Amino acid sequence: MLTSPRNISLFISILVAIVTGIFSALMFFINSSDIWKYLLVEILAIFIIAYVITFYTIRKILINKITPIYKIIQQTGNSNLNNIDSFDNKNLIEEASKDVTNWFKLKTREIEKLKKLEKYRREFLGNVSHELKTPIFNAQGYISTLIDGGIDDKNINKKYLEKADQSINRLITIVRDLELISKLESGELELNRENFNIVQLLKDIVDLLEMRANKLNIKVQVNSGEKSIMVNADRPRISDVINNLIVNSLIYGKQNGTTTINFYDMENKILVEVSDNGVGIEEKFIPRLFERFFRVDKSRSRDQGGTGLGLAIVKHILEVHGETIHVRSTLGEGSAFSFTLNKA
Ligand SMILES: Nc1ncnc2c1ncn2[C@@H]1O[C@H](COP(=O)(O)OP(=O)(O)OP(=O)(O)O)[C@@H](O)[C@H]1O
Ligand SMILES: [Mg+2]
Repeated sequence: MLTSPRNISLFISILVAIVTGIFSALMFFINSSDIWKYLLVEILAIFIIAYVITFYTIRKILINKITPIYKIIQQTGNSNLNNIDSFDNKNLIEEASKDVTNWFKLKTREIEKLKKLEKYRREFLGNVSHELKTPIFNAQGYISTLIDGGIDDKNINKKYLEKADQSINRLITIVRDLELISKLESGELELNRENFNIVQLLKDIVDLLEMRANKLNIKVQVNSGEKSIMVNADRPRISDVINNLIVNSLIYGKQNGTTTINFYDMENKILVEVSDNGVGIEEKFIPRLFERFFRVDKSRSRDQGGTGLGLAIVKHILEVHGETIHVRSTLGEGSAFSFTLNKA
């Protein structure tokens, strides 16, 4: 009933009028010499009664109005709200308004985060299908040509089969990378930690990449004062990390350039740094390097069979190890990627 300002005013006025009427009626029975005293008592009594009635009515109405709003806010998962009964009478509205504003800010932030994730998910799906489409269509093109008679043409039959094979290999690489990322993201992949010599692992990887580096005229050097630095980590996974970083330093390196691997001792950790004097990365792209499918120079990366998944995998593998990766880069001068590992 007491929901509109008109009803509230009517309710309070009627009560005050009744109380005033009763007191005024009592005046008839009062001896005229005492009338001033009684008038004073009447004014005081009416004041107190009107104050108490108004105070409790308004407070009850406000609390009745605010409680359902609070219930909704609490149901939507805000646990750090004040308890409404503990509100100071003076600041009832102020405190409620503060809480609602905070809740609003929190929800807005949550919605923004969800929107971002949704955009990321949509982009991701688009990227996956886009990246898969090219090798699928290429393979299909070569095979169709062979079926349509190309198989008997000695000039192209072997070449086209090889090209179809390359496209399928590329598909396999992409699918494998995606599978690995999703396993790393869902925490499905368990680490097989062991103690091994990180310097030796680096040297083995560099040996395997020697031909590729020679073709590009890039010198790869491993700088380690000590022959052996033992670390505790998942060897094959760390090998993936290092491989990705060195291959990147070759792809995005300069002809006649150098890739250098340095080790830095940090008490109970060892820092490994792979640096190059290649094309470098513009500062604005650095925070995005570890996103899936992100490539600064799409055509250069694609020419080398890149998908933009390498660094996403690197970051995830290091995160599972409880480590992070750092990048320093200057456009036109080169880049340095570094990460730490626990010493054995
Ligand atoms: N050492 C580097 N110097 C300059 N740019 C780099 C370097 N490493 C990575 N980048 C940039 O970061 C992007 C992402 O690297 P990432 O390794 O994730 O993908 P990719 O090398 O393009 O493909 P993939 O590794 O999946 O084969 C690259 O496309 C490149 O633009
Ligand atoms: Mg790469």
